[in-house]
Amino acid sequence: MSAAIPPVIPSAIPSASDQSGIAAQIQACAHDAGIAQRLAQSGHTSGPAYLKPQKILGHKLVLRNATVADASYIVALRTDEQKSRFISSTSAEVRPQEQWLEKYASDDKQIYFIIENMEGENIGTVRLYDQQADSFCWGSWIIQAGAASSSSIESALMVYHYALALGFQNAHFEVRKANESVWKFHERFGAKKTGETANDLHYSIAASDIISSLNRYAKFLPRGIQIQF
Ligand SMILES: CC(C)(COP(=O)(O)OP(=O)(O)OC[C@H]1O[C@@H](n2cnc3c(N)ncnc32)[C@H](O)[C@@H]1OP(=O)(O)O)[C@@H](O)C(=O)NCCC(=O)NCCS
Repeated sequence: MSAAIPPVIPSAIPSASDQSGIAAQIQACAHDAGIAQRLAQSGHTSGPAYLKPQKILGHKLVLRNATVADASYIVALRTDEQKSRFISSTSAEVRPQEQWLEKYASDDKQIYFIIENMEGENIGTVRLYDQQADSFCWGSWIIQAGAASSSSIESALMVYHYALALGFQNAHFEVRKANESVWKFHERFGAKKTGETANDLHYSIAASDIISSLNRYAKFLPRGIQIQF
């Protein structure tokens, strides 16, 4: 018989007494999804790590793990003239994207989600990558024209909710200086500028500010998330 797996309590999850139950909601969702056991099984006995779920169900959106079959969708989205202005450039060829997604399938250092609406239609992408200790980085965030206007807030809240359920304490990311609506979006969420280069602004946001935003914007994600592995 195999030895019992020691429970890992993700340290980022604040006590249930703060911020009107949001922290408790995150804790319950992590418990229901067996996050602690899954982290232990993948060798992460202390601290957070990326786990790839099949799906995360939100209020009006679903995040689902990207597969090779999503290559042409991702290429079309990332080469859209309007949407690609402030993201790194992508080949218009589908094959390199398929190869990237083939490698991604066995890469435990990132999670690439296709954002879907409840009708199962793709509406965008978002990615978690570049873990630095208990801080996660997110980006590759694109929502196609015509999606419901709540999609940006809900997808951001879902990413934050999931990352806290994994045990992260902080997030970090970069935004192009010229991408003003996006850095303003992050600043409204409580992100703090930590530095800049000629073209980019660097931000981080602490778990306490993430929890405040999950609380402030709770109407966009009223029942939190449900994680399906
Ligand atoms: C990044 C991206 C996904 C953000 O989505 P978006 O729809 O542009 O986000 P917005 O900031 O316009 O927010 C959408 C709506 O929510 C509203 N909103 C945003 N933040 C809000 C907040 N904190 N409180 C209340 N409403 C808010 C906006 O006012 C807007 O409402 P409207 O449609 O009625 O005007 C999208 O701009 C995109 O795909 N950009 C191209 C790729 C890119 O640059 N990605 C970022 C790389 S760092």
